[in-house]
Amino acid sequence: MSTSTATAVACPNIAFIKYWGNRDQALRLPENGSISMNLAELETRTRVTFDTTFPLDMFDLNGKRQSGPALDRVIKHLNLLRGLRGISTHAHIFSENNFPTGAGIASSASGFAALTLATVSALGLEISEVDLSRLARRGSGSACRSIPAGFTEWQKGINDLDSFAFSLAAPDYWNLADCIAVIEEEEKKTSSTEGHALASTSPLQAARVADSIRRLEICRNAIQKRDFDALAAIIELDSNMLHAVMMTSRPALYYWEPASLNLIKAVQSWRKTGLGVACTLDAGPNVHVIFEASDTEKITQRIKTFPGVRDVILCHTGDKTHLL
Ligand code: PMV
Repeated sequence: MSTSTATAVACPNIAFIKYWGNRDQALRLPENGSISMNLAELETRTRVTFDTTFPLDMFDLNGKRQSGPALDRVIKHLNLLRGLRGISTHAHIFSENNFPTGAGIASSASGFAALTLATVSALGLEISEVDLSRLARRGSGSACRSIPAGFTEWQKGINDLDSFAFSLAAPDYWNLADCIAVIEEEEKKTSSTEGHALASTSPLQAARVADSIRRLEICRNAIQKRDFDALAAIIELDSNMLHAVMMTSRPALYYWEPASLNLIKAVQSWRKTGLGVACTLDAGPNVHVIFEASDTEKITQRIKTFPGVRDVILCHTGDKTHLL
């Protein structure tokens, strides 16, 4: 019998410039580059054990043995990584999120980032951050941005080899906070994998993609200069462009709930009073309210008591995916 094990920890991320639509669905090569911030406080912890006596692959998520599409997706990723060592030994994956399951917070980014690092380590492979990011991308596109630290950019690249994320700034470069207003706790109805496949059916997607180089540049500069007003303007524009594409795809995807829109409008009105605050939404109704951490008290109080907000989760800029 031979056994080997490794444990990795990864944070999810919130996209400031969003990824939506693949030019190669199998390789998850995106239509446009994207920028995000890792979310500390939230984490996925994944232990991978390879053992020559295991008769099959097993995947436990938050204490529950997985089957069906969730297991298949993990096995597909394991096969990719096992292929790098040319082995077929089965594995037991034991993964836990410290954030509430079904709180509408995407766990695929942190999940595939942690799974990639734990698996390559258990396989005894020495892999650069760039290659880790490329490999994590194959499991879930946004996972590649959770590999490096802090504020990260995923360059769309021209092929599998150069489509990866790198760090634009370390976590302590800018003390931003993301107060996630949980509006719905259920799983989203259309997964992002299905959503990416619909992006090209929207007549607005081509314009969103064509303008992405400009938005990326503005966002990168805003982070480098720690210019909150510039960041606020570009992340809200980008989020609205993403949702405009979703709402105009066939079939149309509506992720916003009435409370999401009410909070979006409230954030705008708070900003008009001089408060540095902005919001962005991924493929779900929960509103990520972004601000400088020095304003935490003032802003989280307003969100906590906002009608339709069931819960809030406060996060700061997070670190890279690492081994335990
Ligand atoms: O990595 P995926 O397939 O879960 O896609 C993420 C899509 C968005 O969250 C909507 C945008 C993004 O860039 O994270």
